[in-house]
Amino acid sequence: MVAQGHAVISLAEGELDFDTPAHIRQAAVAGIMDGHTRYTNVAGTPQLRAAIVRKFARDNVLHYDESEVIAATGAKQILFNALLATINDGDEAIVVAPYWVSYSEMVRIAGGTPVAVTPAAEDGFKLTPDALAAAITPRTRWLMLNSPCNPSGSLYSADELRGLADVLRVHPRVLVMSDDIYEKIVFEGEFCSFAQAAPDMKARTLTINGVSKAYAMTGWRLGYAGGPLWLVKALEMLQSQSTSNPSSVSQAAAIAALDGPQDFLEDWMVRLRWRRDLAVDLLAGAAPLLTMRTPPAAFYLYADCSGTIGMRTPGGNLIESDLDLARYLLEEAGVAVVPGTAFGLAPYLRFAYAVSDDRLRMACAQIVQACRRLSRP
Ligand SMILES: Cc1ncc(COP(=O)(O)O)c(C=O)c1O
Repeated sequence: MVAQGHAVISLAEGELDFDTPAHIRQAAVAGIMDGHTRYTNVAGTPQLRAAIVRKFARDNVLHYDESEVIAATGAKQILFNALLATINDGDEAIVVAPYWVSYSEMVRIAGGTPVAVTPAAEDGFKLTPDALAAAITPRTRWLMLNSPCNPSGSLYSADELRGLADVLRVHPRVLVMSDDIYEKIVFEGEFCSFAQAAPDMKARTLTINGVSKAYAMTGWRLGYAGGPLWLVKALEMLQSQSTSNPSSVSQAAAIAALDGPQDFLEDWMVRLRWRRDLAVDLLAGAAPLLTMRTPPAAFYLYADCSGTIGMRTPGGNLIESDLDLARYLLEEAGVAVVPGTAFGLAPYLRFAYAVSDDRLRMACAQIVQACRRLSRP
């Protein structure tokens, strides 16, 4: 639609609209000018690996050796390679619906079977120990945890993570992926990494993070992880035979991101929280067709749109799924959103509210108006 000249506001993108902070961009320029433009060690420069070790110790009380951390081309590459390195045909990975779209597909590509567990919305879409215990089989290889969660914005407390660890302790084959990429985007509550909550689980936890979300650096493609040496070595081997090191310039920038000032995050959180509240307020105008919780973290709203199913658009089309509703909102309201079907829980819509205040206001108003034009046959 954009290519055809239609004005579309996208609430579909999983990235902040803020600029990468100046000191990080300057570090990249300095990296280029100082000649950091060649291959580096596959797992990252010693300087970056040291910065990652410092970050985990400082923020998460997780103490890794430099050999136990790795930098990669985005957290995405680490998630993918970890599954590829460990999953045999038919192995299962537990994913918590709604989950990030790529989780289930990555498991499938690696030859495994994603096993989706769907916690209740009233539980904040959070996995409970009982539901976890019920999902584990002899083929379970991974529990894929994502807190704060894309798309639900849920945040697990340290106690909730300890409850999950209690279940996993008697299943030594199960590894845990703690995808902490939204760690810094928290408005209420306190972030805790899985192995921080349950230190005895560190030996079978891969703690994944990156600079994409915390520092508005999605385009730089730089993620990192800490985990047991055997797994980090396997990740390094896969990387060595496929993509080699992540960009040397991005590595120089990431050192500045991790070691540099973090105070700008306070201002970012104030602005994001304000947008979250604005979007929740404005979209309440579409209730009961759209209903949602106010999530404590990340920058997404996950709205139940079951109230629209069975309604008709002004053009006479029947809304049969969240895919239909997303298409209608794109065509009628000029707003792009992602249907919950992509995240394994429908009928829902995900709104990413990390866009400018004006665009957010306009997008919400257009969504509400479009919803009000739906009618029951
Ligand atoms: C839950 C989750 N994990 C990982 C990633 C990937 O991050 P990166 O940009 O570091 O590859 C994303 C990006 O949207 C995400 O939402």
